[in-house]
Amino acid sequence: MDELIAKACEARARAYAPYSGFAVGAAIEASDGRTAVGCNVENASFGLTVCAERAAVTAAVSAGLVEWRRLVVVVDAAKPVAPCGACRQVLGEFCEDLEIVLATTDGGLSKTSLEQLLPRRFGPADLGTVQDAQ
Ligand code: THU
Repeated sequence: MDELIAKACEARARAYAPYSGFAVGAAIEASDGRTAVGCNVENASFGLTVCAERAAVTAAVSAGLVEWRRLVVVVDAAKPVAPCGACRQVLGEFCEDLEIVLATTDGGLSKTSLEQLLPRRFGPADLGTVQDAQ
């Protein structure tokens, strides 16, 4: 199995999803090969739930990884699932495009990209005035 998929599976095993029972794992591979992972973290106040993808974004940025080449999302479902709209927008803050691998725990695979999932999105450059945060 692809190492990044294995890392997303490990993260998925740590998901906190007592309300939906739908555990998700995500792993981001930075341009330098380093990785960061995330799992979904639900809350009794349901709207405060954090998706696995956004948890992985937070972990990556916190580790200093802001240039990425690949994202893997793993679920235990009949078919792979794609990131929700909110996560697509958050992912787009850090990259023009991103290779995205959607996987299931039993080996299902589907490949896509951020550009395919959220074309012509609003981004940092649209503000015109934003300085580089680095
Ligand atoms: N979820 C994710 O973590 N990522 C997705 O791409 C879709 C949905 C989570 C949120 C919630 O904890 C559960 O899956 C059901 O929506």
